[in-house]
Formats: sequence, C-alpha cells, structure tokens
Amino acid sequence: MSTMTNQILIFDTTLRDGEQSPGCSMNIEEKLRVAAQLEALGVDIIEAGFAIASDGDFESVQAVARQCERAIVCSLARASRTDIDRAWAALRDAKRPRIHTFIATSPLHMKVKLGKSPEEVIEAIRESVSHARNVCDDVEWSAEDATRSEPDFLARAIETAIQCGARTINLPDTVGYGTPETYGAMFRDMIARVPNADLAVFSTHCHNDLGLGVANTLAAVMAGARQVESTINGIGERAGNAAVEEIAMALKIRADVLPYTTGIVSTEITRASRLVSAVTGMHVQPNKAIVGANAFAHESGIHQDGMLKDSSTYEIMTPESVGQGQTNLVLGKHSGRAAFRDKLDQLGYTLADNEFTDAFRRFKDLADAKKQVFDEDIVALVDDEVLRGHDRIQVIEVEVYCGSNGPQRAILTLSVDGEEATAATRGNGPVDALFSAIRKLVPHDEASLALYEVSAVTAGTDAQAEVSVILSENGRTARGVGAHNDTLVASARAYVNALNKLIIKRGRSALAA
Ligand code: KIV
Ligand code: ZN
Repeated sequence: MSTMTNQILIFDTTLRDGEQSPGCSMNIEEKLRVAAQLEALGVDIIEAGFAIASDGDFESVQAVARQCERAIVCSLARASRTDIDRAWAALRDAKRPRIHTFIATSPLHMKVKLGKSPEEVIEAIRESVSHARNVCDDVEWSAEDATRSEPDFLARAIETAIQCGARTINLPDTVGYGTPETYGAMFRDMIARVPNADLAVFSTHCHNDLGLGVANTLAAVMAGARQVESTINGIGERAGNAAVEEIAMALKIRADVLPYTTGIVSTEITRASRLVSAVTGMHVQPNKAIVGANAFAHESGIHQDGMLKDSSTYEIMTPESVGQGQTNLVLGKHSGRAAFRDKLDQLGYTLADNEFTDAFRRFKDLADAKKQVFDEDIVALVDDEVLRGHDRIQVIEVEVYCGSNGPQRAILTLSVDGEEATAATRGNGPVDALFSAIRKLVPHDEASLALYEVSAVTAGTDAQAEVSVILSENGRTARGVGAHNDTLVASARAYVNALNKLIIKRGRSALAA
C-alpha cells in the first residue's frame, strides 16, 4: 500500500511534539487557532496533543477534534489501556479520529526506561494496538527510538502492530541520530522484510539534533515512506523536529528529483509560521529557510543587481509562493480601517470582528505616538493584543515611578479570571518593582526569572519594545512575550504572558514522549 502512490501525507505535530519545546505551551484558544490554520494549510493529519497528560490537554484535543472539518485528528497514547481510553474519549467526536500509540523498541529504552524485556514489549504492542483498534478504526503505531533499535526486533514489532490492526507505522528518529543514508536504509529494509508491510503506510518522524531532520525525512520518502511527521517552524523537543514548510517546499521546488506531491497550500505557509511563532513566543531565526525574515532578503550589490535583472538569478522560489506579500506600505495616524484591514491581510492575519476592533484601537494609539507604523510594528501589536485575549491573567494598567531619586515604585492592576486587583510595590529599579507587584497579586514563589530581554521592534527612539521573559519552576520553563511603545508595559505583559503559560504547564504531569 505504502509505495503505490506518490502522494505524501503531511502529519503535523506542532500541537503535540512542537508544544514539547522547552518553554512552549499553548492554551486551548491558541491551539484551536493553530488547528484552523493547519487545515487552511492543507495538512492531512493534526496531532492535537497527548490527552492523558492533563485535563487541559484532554480539553484541547477534544476541542480540536470537534472543530476540524477535513483533517484527521489524533491524540498520542502510551501502550496502556488507560492512555488509549483517554485518547479515545477526547477524540470520539472527531469527524476523522486516529489513535497514535507508541512504545520504545531500542535495547536502551526497553531496558532503562521501560524495564521490559523484548518479549514483554511485543506483548505490550499486541495488547495496546488491539485495544486501540477495538475503539477506533484508524490506528497509528510508533516504534520510539526506531533508529537505535535492532533491525530483527524492529521488524517483529512492526509485523505485530500491523497484525493487530495498525494501518500507519511510524519509525521515529527520536534522538536525531540518523543520517539520510541510514534512515532511508531502515525504511527500505523494513518495507522489504516485514511480510505484511503492504497493509500499512510507513511514516517518518525526525528530530533535528544533528540538523538533519528534513534531509532524513526526504531520504525516507525516497525509500517508500508516504507520511511525514513534522512541525511548523521546526519547533519541538531539544533541537526540534523537521519543519513542515521546508519539507513541503523541497518537494515542490525539486519535483524533478523528488517526484512526490502534498496537499500543502504553500501560500498559507507564512501565515502558519507567524501564528505559531506568536502563540508560542518562539521567534523564528532570521536566516531560517522559507519563513525567516531574511529568507528573501538580498544584501550584496551583486545579488541586488541580479535580482533587478531577473529574480530567478538568486531566488529559487518567490516570496509570494510561500505567502509573503508586499511588505513596504507604511501606515500612519491617518490610515483608516480599510488600509489597516488590507495590511493585516497582506501580513497573513484573519481576525474576528472584535479582535479587529481591539487591534485597530491599539494601532491608532501607536500611530499617535509614532510617526510611521511599519509591518513589524503591526505584527508585534496584533500578536500581543489579539493572542493574549484568552489569558487567565491580563494586564489592565501599569504605572511606574522611576529615575535617579529612588525608590522606584510600581502600581499595577491585573485581571485574574475576570477579577481585578491592584498592588503597589517598591523595587530595586522599575522592572523589579513591577515584577514584585505581579508576584504580590499572583504569588508564584517557586518560579524564578530565567530571562528578561528587551529588543526594539523597529529603528528609532519611538520604536515599540518587544520583551521576552522566561520563568523557570521545578524544571519547567515558560516563555512569554509582550510588545508596547512603553518598555515597562511591554515588560509587564511579557511576564504575565509567561506566567499564564507556566500555569498551563503546571497542569501537565511529566510524561515522557
Ligand atoms: O520522537 C518520538 O519518538 C515521538 C514519538 C512519541 C512519536 O515523538
Ligand atoms: Zn518526536
């Protein structure tokens, strides 16, 4: 079955493996927004989360399952009845549900992590996949740490999973250890030697520890894999996962040597990338392929000259083909709603009416304070204003007294679950005073500030400040961002955003996946 078509199924795990990135967590509304964009992008399968991890994860998987119209929605589950039943309870309302169950098959993981013999692992596969198939028709099975598994044992494990009803077999490079040659060879070998391999679609899942995630994915496709698992912007555990946008564009641009198709609507890529970056607070590095700010920038004179003569001299794809529009129209205080809406559209934002009204109000305030409002300003303010709308804790008002004649003081009003409260504090500097006020209103004694970073969104002394904050608590980290033309307001917003994310993370038990 797996090698009969050249159509590659795109399995997006931004909401599950992507969310396992250090510091990253999304609330339910953010996940729904990302899921909607993933459907617009044309992914075939959305891994919505790990339903057993926490009540919040369960609710998110359930909400995504109920929302998706076209994509298959799946939840991860360990090889246990409790996990599988919880996954199914979250998925049962989906139009197209899938249970994704996994167990480790490498000698190291079986011995050290699971404390199981190979025979016990085979038995666990038999039980878990059979149970998953009893509740759901579409079951995917993954051999965690497949790249470090014994080939003979891996083949037996795959055969067992297929016998018990799994119709997708995923062979993850869990620790990013494979190379294109070895990862491709593993697929070729397994597809050739597992007797019932023709009953399943083989799937790739590559981590990027050696920077080879996308190369390994493509090698596996050439060896017969027909599903690829990946994340937007390549976010994920440690060095991340293979990036959806890179795989999709490699297949599109190099169709001459990679003759495979996907359902990805490439013009939706930038919109998806921006959204994921905004909701997770994980910035995209400027030189990141396809979606980085410099991906289509030309600095040297020779390149610029070539571009003016014929853009194909230095561009193998157009910015428009990945959804990057014209970005040079600058707005000012006389720009109206239509111009603002047009700009949002160009930048890849689709806002509900109330979100548009909030964003427009913020834009007008900014335009009053700043002569020219650039694209970067709008991205920062929309991400800050609109995406924070569902946070449990919100910044209502900030007043700070600072200067050389201390003590510096802050008066802060927060809304916590809809109830407003105000605190006045002193500190060793205005930021310290402000953050102390947040601690006073929402105590979180075990958390410490691991990062506080300020950057300017654009050039000029009237530029908006973009602040990043990382909070760390008992091994968990949460990242928050905030933007405002007042650096201290941006600081409060960033801290509170990180705190909201930390609260989501607290609800999640430490499950390994
Ligand atoms: O990397 C991995 O092995 C995984 C599996 C749980 C699919 O994410
Ligand atoms: Zn993974």
